[in-house]
Amino acid sequence: MPAKILIKVLVLAAPLLQLASVVSGFPAHASLAGLSGRDYHYVVSQLEAKVPAPPPGPLDFNGTKLVDDPEHPWMPLQPGDVRGPCPGLNTLASHGVSYLPRNGVATPVQMIQAVQEGFNMENFLARFTTYSAMLLDGNLVTDLLSIGAKTSLTGRDPPLPALAGGMHNHGTFEGDASLTRGDAFFGDNHSFNETLFEQFKDFSNRFGNGFYNLTVAAELRFHRIQQGIATNPQFSIAGFRHLTAYAEVTFPANLFVDGRREGCMKGQLDMLSAERFFRDMRFPPGFFRPAKPTATEGIDAVLAAHPVQPGANDGTSVDSFTVDESLGSLLDYCGFYTQFVNTTIRGLYPNPTGVLRKNLDMNLQFFFDSLSPGSNCTQVFPYGQPGEGGMA
Ligand code: HEM
Repeated sequence: MPAKILIKVLVLAAPLLQLASVVSGFPAHASLAGLSGRDYHYVVSQLEAKVPAPPPGPLDFNGTKLVDDPEHPWMPLQPGDVRGPCPGLNTLASHGVSYLPRNGVATPVQMIQAVQEGFNMENFLARFTTYSAMLLDGNLVTDLLSIGAKTSLTGRDPPLPALAGGMHNHGTFEGDASLTRGDAFFGDNHSFNETLFEQFKDFSNRFGNGFYNLTVAAELRFHRIQQGIATNPQFSIAGFRHLTAYAEVTFPANLFVDGRREGCMKGQLDMLSAERFFRDMRFPPGFFRPAKPTATEGIDAVLAAHPVQPGANDGTSVDSFTVDESLGSLLDYCGFYTQFVNTTIRGLYPNPTGVLRKNLDMNLQFFFDSLSPGSNCTQVFPYGQPGEGGMA
């Protein structure tokens, strides 16, 4: 072919090649939020669409049992495995596929089963947490969700959408003031942070006689918020993050403590076990899961010890925290639900069509069904009732 014609062909084909490079590099677990128009259609046409299965119910046997067993051997990370900001999910993935796939990519059903089986997380909370993560960070077409960050695709041209990773995406599920992870503003929001863990141990020594418990949770929760306000100009604990920031600090006392502990040792997490979960992503040797399905017991007391309203710094200066209730909070649960769906999810997916719209509707329904029993929130339909329009 003469050189002139070859150049013309290449010029004409360039946009297609660009698209092909997005598609060939687009992970099946990456969120589709941020893709629009031609990119979106091209990517979706290359993905294997799945109809999401309904969520599993509660465990049949819901007592304590050995979960660090020979069927779930811990293994170190292999190339390509992802891990993220959640020590619970990291641990389950490192103990393998009967809990979570070792690569860290799973369906919501696998995730709910895993947190129930491995940690006896209560069914409503397991569903609520999983479907909020799925809506915020998952791939709604393939029904896959990544627990973590590492994508080898960074820097590709054209770039992947900002939300292409997994649960480390800042400002979706992941947020500020974590106990053992830094704020995104400081560069790494998902890796175990040794300095913060030293602070975790220090607080456990000062307020828990060497153990992490709900008293420590209340003090450290408050302290991490104050640290964020004083050092991070972009600090935020608004909306969903207000809820998760208080919920997560109860988990180490409720879910990381061996289920055989009774009496005064119940809810007391020793520092060696804490290190295993947070740093090594591994059950302590011979670990038994909690004795009964467990959620965020103690969260009211943690909040009551040092109540902080939802809000944020102004983005440019530290110590500029102002209350912002516009996205709801732990203190306004139905307000949170409504804004989460109508503002956050709608913002991620302004105009979904086809299989994306269908699967969004299903995940939004699963999410609504998982709201705290007795909360009596009114269901909202940001795209109209399922089946109406947008199904092209
Ligand atoms: C049900 C599915 C779950 C999902 C989708 C999930 C997701 C997450 C995410 C995205 C974070 C990061 C939030 C942040 O601090 O910025 C997180 C934190 C955390 N998760 Fe999970 N999680 C789940 C289950 C669990 C379970 C079963 C446990 C404990 C057994 C757990 C323990 C924690 C703890 C302790 C933190 C706070 C870490 C810290 O502050 O350093 N999670 N989770």
